[in-house]
Amino acid sequence: MKMDLCELSPSYVRAIAPYQPGKPISELARELGLKEETIVKLASNENPRGIGPRTRAAIDAALGEIARYPDGNGYELKAALSRRYGVEMSSIVLGNGSNDVLELVAHAFLGPGRAAVYSQHAFAVYPLATQARGARSIVVPAKNYGHDLDTMLAAIDEETYVIWVANPNNPTGTLARPDELESFLKRVPERVIVVVDEAYNEYLPPELKAETVKWLRRHPNLVVTRTFSKAYGLAGLRVGYAFADAPVADVMNRVRQPFNVNSLALAAAAAALDDMEFVARSYAENGQGMRQIEDGAQRLGLDWIPSYGNFIALRVGRAKQIYKRLLKRGVIVRPVGGYQLPEHLRVTIGTPEENEKFLAALAASLKE
Ligand SMILES: Cc1ncc(COP(=O)(O)O)c(C=O)c1O
Repeated sequence: MKMDLCELSPSYVRAIAPYQPGKPISELARELGLKEETIVKLASNENPRGIGPRTRAAIDAALGEIARYPDGNGYELKAALSRRYGVEMSSIVLGNGSNDVLELVAHAFLGPGRAAVYSQHAFAVYPLATQARGARSIVVPAKNYGHDLDTMLAAIDEETYVIWVANPNNPTGTLARPDELESFLKRVPERVIVVVDEAYNEYLPPELKAETVKWLRRHPNLVVTRTFSKAYGLAGLRVGYAFADAPVADVMNRVRQPFNVNSLALAAAAAALDDMEFVARSYAENGQGMRQIEDGAQRLGLDWIPSYGNFIALRVGRAKQIYKRLLKRGVIVRPVGGYQLPEHLRVTIGTPEENEKFLAALAASLKE
């Protein structure tokens, strides 16, 4: 009898549920025989503005050196981040998307016999990264769809090495206020790494941005992660980063692949970081789009979870069915049943035209 080679992988690896990404435009176009340009994808929290001309120019310039390996230390990008945020370069870890950086935390600090705490409805990579290391997950019930920080604190046991906090969280869009987060951080034992995942930080109004970078000095167990995939518009290039106390950053860098961030991504991210106007516009247009979707949802008599990101979870009832009906109308959103939200659809804020097309398709799908 043929051996099932899958059995050779550790049981905790076999138990991993595959990550379900947003459906690619090309796939739906193939399935429905549609032209790609007619499809609206609001399924992966990407930036509908694309990228700015300065970033494009940096990518073009970097193409000339594509035959060479990238700078494995990411000097230019780290220097740019260091200047912008006042963080030592030894406290910066670069990743192939912030996803990679989250994996580096798991690699560095988790393993069999260890545990990680995270919230119900929290970003899918936390269970994935925890489980892939053979560590135990301690899942804390959400409060009003958001992180219940007091209960998360109480859930820490002697095997807990990592706490994952998404702020704002995906897919719910919920936010822990800066004072709540700081008071939580002060109460977490120093031997536990607290990851504050700020993938959507640039979409927050200034008064709701926590001063996480300042907190690093007082809390050596804090790891702040951010990305160029959202407000900077570089999801396809894959580049993110972490700020952490130098010894923590050092151990994360040791488990990193030597060339984990490619040269186009490094060049593009450094240029995008300087394009403050692009990010400011992304922020402003996202706010307008959010209101457009909320107004539309209200007209349709739908509830939603108030969101601080570039997406919103709308309560549509039989979400899987509505998702399929939207697909037939050339609109891709994200069902979030896998996040224990079977009645919600997560919708990325698009351009005004994309949002309008989505709302019209949603109205028709709800009536069908
Ligand atoms: C909360 C959160 N963290 C991290 C990521 C990872 O993004 P990336 O790997 O593109 O930086 C995402 C992406 O959707 C996210 O929603």
